[in-house]
Amino acid sequence: TGAFTYDPGFTSTAACQSAITYIDGDEGVLLHRGYAIGDLAEKSSYMEVCYLLLNGELPSKDELAKFSGTITRHTMVHDQMSSFFRGFRRDAHPMAIMCGVVGALSAFYHDSTDITDPNQRLIASHRLIAKIPTIAAMAYQYSVGRPFVYPQNSLSYTGNFLRMTFGNPAEPYEVNPIVEKAMDRIFILHADHEQNASTSTVRLAGSSGANPFACIAAGIACLWGPAHGGANEAALNMLHEIGTVDRIPEYIARAKDKDDPFRLMGFGHRVYKNYDPRATVMQQTVREVLGELGVTDPVFDVAIALEEMALSDPYFIEKKLFPNVDFYSGVILSAIGFPTTMFTVLFALARTVGWVAQWNEMISDPEQKIGRPRQLYTGATARDYVSIDKR
Ligand code: CMC
Repeated sequence: TGAFTYDPGFTSTAACQSAITYIDGDEGVLLHRGYAIGDLAEKSSYMEVCYLLLNGELPSKDELAKFSGTITRHTMVHDQMSSFFRGFRRDAHPMAIMCGVVGALSAFYHDSTDITDPNQRLIASHRLIAKIPTIAAMAYQYSVGRPFVYPQNSLSYTGNFLRMTFGNPAEPYEVNPIVEKAMDRIFILHADHEQNASTSTVRLAGSSGANPFACIAAGIACLWGPAHGGANEAALNMLHEIGTVDRIPEYIARAKDKDDPFRLMGFGHRVYKNYDPRATVMQQTVREVLGELGVTDPVFDVAIALEEMALSDPYFIEKKLFPNVDFYSGVILSAIGFPTTMFTVLFALARTVGWVAQWNEMISDPEQKIGRPRQLYTGATARDYVSIDKR
């Protein structure tokens, strides 16, 4: 009843107003609070971008120091949470662990589940940004059978994460500044992306008044899919499968074949019909990092050649399919030492700030209502019940 439009995939429906992130997909522009992603990736830090997304302005030196100190104070997780991990099989996908453990935070931090109090919402946001790296690192350490490494708050956000992930309690861990800088930039590139599927999921879950930890767990679940955050894992697996430059045409032909479900992973985007500006920075970062670490990876050559071939093919030109942020991120993450299963976890870690910023914006919006899409009913019309012995 009542008029409404049928819009599968919400390609033309704005479900909210937002002042956080702006995308012009035709021009390949991405701005956070008005600042271009290229400038932020080159000149700022992930902590600064977190502050910007949450507060709307870049921080002064004092504000940044205070904010980093606040995040640092929340990096530990309740000690009992470690028992949670032990309930998972060692070979569990770390995204499965993330969904479960992040959702479980609501059972440990009851005060932060009061979403009517703006101060509690802020504390919940800080807790999430601070604790997700700890949980992500624990998920990794658990999968390789090594002990959990506690946070060390004298390190940077990113340095601390690297140490918790790759360090062990028996030896000192030296944070490699090249890796730390690259990782920080990858986090910036993934920090927010307006109303993508996982952010919309967080908003929809939050619109019912659900607590923030449960909402972020819902976002993580949505991000896991290969059409969204799971694409970085799928893209690197695809590049490995292709293996050598001479096999690329075969895969391009498959991607173009309507009868073959295969797609070039890391290619195409709902909004960008031009080069994804994040992919530009990512490609340049891969080049720098492989160079600085002295690593040669044949998979990077396959990626460069695949991009070149696809971008000169009429199919990809006509459909405006360009590499997206996930096309190159896997190359760099594996050079740093992450297994493919951790790629989407890193995306979730970095996107947490975007999710909480958008969640906060929604809860503070006086026009906010519970999200409740309509449907076009295509089922049977009303009919009489037939008892089972007559069917
Ligand atoms: N390879 C081959 N063909 C493609 C691809 C691709 N990667 N992406 C889209 N197409 C074709 C598609 O077959 C369709 O053709 P036709 O019009 O003839 O039916 C046309 O392009 C439009 O595609 P769509 O699926 O209707 O577009 P969408 O906006 O619903 O999907 C997408 C966007 C990102 C899900 C899709 O491009 C895709 O599946 N890409 C591969 C997965 C990927 O890299 N995802 C990461 C997205 S960026 C990071 C993130 O958001 O998490």
